[in-house]
Amino acid sequence: NDVKVYNLTITKKKLAPDGFTREMYAINDLFPGPLIEVNKGDTLRLNVYNDLEEKTAIHSHGMFQRGTPWYDGFSGQSQCDIQSKKSFTYEFQVNQSGTYWYHSHSKAQYIEGIIGALIAHDPDDPYLKEYDEEIVVLIQDWHHNDAKTLLAQFLSPESNGNEPTPDNGLINGMNSYNCSGAPNGSDCVSNAPLANFKFVQGKKYRMRIINTSAFSVFIFSIDDHPMDVIEVEGMMTQRYTIHRLPINVAQRYSVIVSADKPIGKYWMRSEMETACFATQSDTLNPLVKAIVEYEGSDGNDNPNSSAWTDSQATCIDLDTSNLKPYEVQTIPDADYKVTLNVTFQPDDKNVTRGYINNSTYVLDSKFPTLLKVYKDITTFKPNQNVYTIDKDKVVDIILNNFDTGNHPFHLHGHVFWVLGIGINGTSPDYNSVNTKDPIQRDTVTVPAGGWHIVRFVSNNPGVWSFHCHMEWHVQSGLVMQFVTQPDQIKELKPPDDWFNLCKS
Ligand code: C2O
Repeated sequence: NDVKVYNLTITKKKLAPDGFTREMYAINDLFPGPLIEVNKGDTLRLNVYNDLEEKTAIHSHGMFQRGTPWYDGFSGQSQCDIQSKKSFTYEFQVNQSGTYWYHSHSKAQYIEGIIGALIAHDPDDPYLKEYDEEIVVLIQDWHHNDAKTLLAQFLSPESNGNEPTPDNGLINGMNSYNCSGAPNGSDCVSNAPLANFKFVQGKKYRMRIINTSAFSVFIFSIDDHPMDVIEVEGMMTQRYTIHRLPINVAQRYSVIVSADKPIGKYWMRSEMETACFATQSDTLNPLVKAIVEYEGSDGNDNPNSSAWTDSQATCIDLDTSNLKPYEVQTIPDADYKVTLNVTFQPDDKNVTRGYINNSTYVLDSKFPTLLKVYKDITTFKPNQNVYTIDKDKVVDIILNNFDTGNHPFHLHGHVFWVLGIGINGTSPDYNSVNTKDPIQRDTVTVPAGGWHIVRFVSNNPGVWSFHCHMEWHVQSGLVMQFVTQPDQIKELKPPDDWFNLCKS
């Protein structure tokens, strides 16, 4: 096993992903950030240099961080921020494989470009011989205003909790924009180039699709090309053929696509589900396109292929009850059931915030929870939303969503079995759950007015956030944290560098 080293310099930069120039963030001057690739078993070392005028922290989304919970990167929970013009090294073993990503977990920074793909290859991947090449596809929503301004508006009484509506969407950091929708005086060029993916006829591609949005659910498809789902967030599944793939914020899938159609060009489509938005926009084109171009196709014409028409319920996940794990698993019985009720309510300043069991999370960036554990502080303020779990317990999270929006909930440091999901108007029901062959993942959407039951094994000492991954909702407090195995945490020794982060 190797040590894979990546140097990541976080800067501010003027870029125009969709032709609209704005100041944003970049990693090594790139947006999206560099592709990080490891093999299962490798050690990954990320040397982060913070070249910004503000603090940051980098989270490797989906990495278990077993034995290194201090490298999980959630500022205020697992670390203090990396100060401006300072470096910090994250180093951990990757004993897992699949499709992941990394992003800033400080403020709302990832919305403005601190993102990238993280792929863990498995030399024993059961599908290895069934595709020729891999393609990484990052899809996301995009704003032309800076996130600090948008966040301040969102967290004011005037917003009534209505999230900012994106200006555009991107595929691998590209799209075009019709500049007539841009404010006067903007530096904006219409018809910026779309992302272009090359196919060679006869080859098969494993596409790894990652939704790095702030807020938006997309439905992903390629005209005329069915997709076989083979992986959900690190879990290999049996092949399952679909045409249109709904994918919520922070979710990932691998699909196998055969380049077995006539040589030519085809649209790749990433349709933003505006039906889930609180407010609609006149200038937003919700259909984000890229071009799939077979080698040997001629001319500069755009594709003239047409979209799949299969219907898909809006704003909810792909129905994973049809997906079967590649390998049979035994699902342990639950020791605990944790019931969590999600609501949005105005706080004492009349700002609408997200609540879990009537408590809205308030970030304590100077004194992260993991440091509290090391300082033997085991009683936490109510607004820290901490739930402590002992060793090797099997935990069911029963989540009731009393809100009118759907929420993609993500658990750090673990995967959970998705035992059951219920739509609006139903209540959690153990008679309808699947404990025989559910899939595991790390981000699942609880429908508006509905519920989900997920099960995880607390086998990884640390402080692990459980939060809605819509970044606006992280900032409005829809966050809690599990402190798992506090005694075992203390047997693990963080490096001095980590303690020093909290001294500056
Ligand atoms: Cu993508 Cu709290 O993480």
